Amino acid sequence: MVALNEDMKAIFGKTKIFAVATASKDGVPNVVPMAWVRLADDETVWIMDNFMVKSLANLKENPRIAMYFWDQDTKRCFQIKGSAEIQTSGEAFETFRSQVKAKSEAYPAKSLVVMKITDVFECTPGKEAGRKVL
Ligand SMILES: Cc1cc2nc3c(=O)[nH]c(=O)nc-3n(C[C@H](O)[C@H](O)[C@H](O)COP(=O)(O)O)c2cc1C
Repeated sequence: MVALNEDMKAIFGKTKIFAVATASKDGVPNVVPMAWVRLADDETVWIMDNFMVKSLANLKENPRIAMYFWDQDTKRCFQIKGSAEIQTSGEAFETFRSQVKAKSEAYPAKSLVVMKITDVFECTPGKEAGRKVL
């Protein structure tokens, strides 16, 4: 696992919508917008499953997951990759579920996707683009 640095965390915190990518075990890619995405600690991202269908099915058969976050002001962009675990009980699930439910009871908050970050890449356009930074 790797830990995001302060620059990365600042951009993550400003991001409203994340593009979350998964793949089936046969390698069929899938990418979706996700808003309920939080940095639980420097190495861990929480994503609330409200309406996931293919994403959830993919993660059950292939835990690899990726996303990027981009800052419109500075144009900095980072891509993170990791491994996900699906939780439907426990302290983390209940904590995030209550935050989501507090916003609206209409959110089903079915399960918590816990992403452990394993790799960070630059995706800022330019000569550093694509470079593995962590
Ligand atoms: C802006 C936006 C934010 C969304 N945020 C979430 C989210 O945080 N959690 C979730 O489960 N679905 C969220 N959705 C809905 C999923 O993206 C949508 O249900 C998608 O079809 C799931 O696709 P899948 O079958 O590939 O998993 C969001 C949709 C939009 C447009």
